[in-house]
Amino acid sequence: MGQNSVVSERSTPDSVATTTPTGSIVKTPTASPSVTQVPTSKPVQTPVPSSTPAGSKSYSLVEVAKHGNDSSCWSVVNGQVYDLTSWISKHPGGEAAILSICGKDGSSAFNDQHSGERRPANELAGYEIGVLIN
Ligand code: HEM
Repeated sequence: MGQNSVVSERSTPDSVATTTPTGSIVKTPTASPSVTQVPTSKPVQTPVPSSTPAGSKSYSLVEVAKHGNDSSCWSVVNGQVYDLTSWISKHPGGEAAILSICGKDGSSAFNDQHSGERRPANELAGYEIGVLIN
């Protein structure tokens, strides 16, 4: 008797809501002091591959593609990854030119327009966040 009625209490809820026949809800606290204390701390940060230059992160085109609009605009120019979000509204050539390269490789667009120009290259350097990997 009683042997078959083993109740597993591995996951202990904070409280158990019980509805009484009269309709009122009775909450019975079940949290016990030292039972089922599962540590929840786990490493969140992914280590950056060490083969890249110091301080430089690497991103794939898949990652860049997740930042393809005006709320987060990343682009690739000549193998480097840039966060151009704050540059969109400052670009002397208009917002559309930057928006058109968000989330993708903008090398040809940039090079076609600005190759050999000092100012665009200088501006661009200030937005670098890493390098492109495959
Ligand atoms: C990707 C990052 C880019 C940066 C950092 C950038 C930066 C700049 C800067 C600094 C200027 C002013 C140049 C000067 O007055 O000396 C400029 C102008 C201009 N940019 Fe960009 N640019 C970028 C991308 C593009 C793209 C992709 C296009 C076109 C597809 C473009 C089209 C233009 C045009 C047409 C102007 C001339 C605006 C004018 O003088 O009225 N830019 N850009």
